[in-house]
Amino acid sequence: MKPKIIVKNLTKKFGDRIVLRNISFEVMEREIFVLMGGSGSGKSTTIKHIIGLLKPTSGQIIIDGVDITKLSDRELIEFRKRMGYLFQEGALFDSLKVWENVGFYFLENTDMPREEIYKLAQKKLAMVGLKGVEELYPSQLSGGMRKRVSLARAISTNPEIVLYDEPTSGLDPVTSAMIDKLIMDLRESIGVTSIVVTHDLDSAFTIADRIAMIHKGVIYAIGTPEEIRNNPDPVVQQFINRRAEGPITEELFKEMQMEASA
Ligand SMILES: Nc1ncnc2c1ncn2[C@@H]1O[C@H](COP(=O)(O)OP(=O)(O)OP(=O)(O)O)[C@@H](O)[C@H]1O
Ligand SMILES: [Mg+2]
Repeated sequence: MKPKIIVKNLTKKFGDRIVLRNISFEVMEREIFVLMGGSGSGKSTTIKHIIGLLKPTSGQIIIDGVDITKLSDRELIEFRKRMGYLFQEGALFDSLKVWENVGFYFLENTDMPREEIYKLAQKKLAMVGLKGVEELYPSQLSGGMRKRVSLARAISTNPEIVLYDEPTSGLDPVTSAMIDKLIMDLRESIGVTSIVVTHDLDSAFTIADRIAMIHKGVIYAIGTPEEIRNNPDPVVQQFINRRAEGPITEELFKEMQMEASA
């Protein structure tokens, strides 16, 4: 197997704040790679670099051998066709109907007839367990339904790579399990390479080939679910065992004290 995505020495600063510190990892073709870590650790920032929405302060993002950080805006738009991205916030267009949101790429960039786009949208919606919502507006849906509409949109172009930012947050357990299955099915049926950001430990350990733990902007641990489970590092153990006490909270506490006394 060859690497599909290579993140090489990625550093990102916002102003003088360093959010990602020289992180490196590779995602293999057809792999389901899960990125976990506390709130604010840099997960969304990482995948926004992979889709090219953010430019690194330094470092490279190589996809299929192409360093996408060097592409022009135009080339990047072309390149992005191969990738689906589920935004953490969903990011649906409120003024468009559900089916128009799902078929947005085709409405904007192709001459495909509207009826065909409608049918395609219907099919993608069925894949995420939604029926009969085509003509509704996003504001008429529940949070979990909106999430699934975003997911249907992310897979609308049959992308080779799908980046999921919290695909199961806010969903009930049954729907979450269905989304997990969808992520695995997409790999089987069309060989999708996936990066999944999640806080959902059950989901992570179910779907992942490998899990990377990001903490304070560095990749703290990386390995198979089994390796992560057996990793003795206290930060990793606190995270995967959902403990309130441990190094993560101690650090947070120290930082708060430092800020209060500054
Ligand atoms: N556009 C931006 N400008 C300034 N700071 C930003 C920007 N985007 C993210 N950050 C900061 O970078 C850090 C990492 O943010 P990021 O969204 O990647 O976290 P995350 O790991 O996805 O967290 P969560 O689990 O809460 O979604 C945060 O401290 C955030 O405030
Ligand atoms: Mg995030």
